[in-house]
Amino acid sequence: MKKIMIINGPNLNLLGVREKNIYGNQDFASFFEELKAQYTDVDLSYFQSNHEGEIIDKLHEIGFTYDGVVLNAGAYTHTSLAIGDAIAGITTPVVEVHISNVHKREAFRHHSYLAPNCTGVICGFGLQSYTLGIASFL
Ligand code: DQA
Repeated sequence: MKKIMIINGPNLNLLGVREKNIYGNQDFASFFEELKAQYTDVDLSYFQSNHEGEIIDKLHEIGFTYDGVVLNAGAYTHTSLAIGDAIAGITTPVVEVHISNVHKREAFRHHSYLAPNCTGVICGFGLQSYTLGIASFL
């Protein structure tokens, strides 16, 4: 059974509450239950942190044994050399995902420090971006 972890970064604990016009009405916990029901043949786990170092620690912890990471690093995508380096330093492939189409938004969201070290990038499909990220590993 493939082991895949979804990692959400800062402010994504507020999904369903925060800026619903951009990020939608659904909270991540209920979406994750739907994902687990959809992918019964995948060992799916979830981690969220608002702290850069905790995201890096998690990547180090699982990044040599898991089959894939679906990572939405939120705003750290656009600022964090350190998360980019962490992705480069592990062997587990990482797919960068975003709920919104960051390229339709402010210019500061157009650059990613993570993407050069990721297998690919999926953005703009709402929560389905995560589903597509999982599918990319199967
Ligand atoms: C986001 C896009 C980022 O620019 C933003 O900072 C987020 C969420 C998305 O999923 O669309 O927090 O990663």
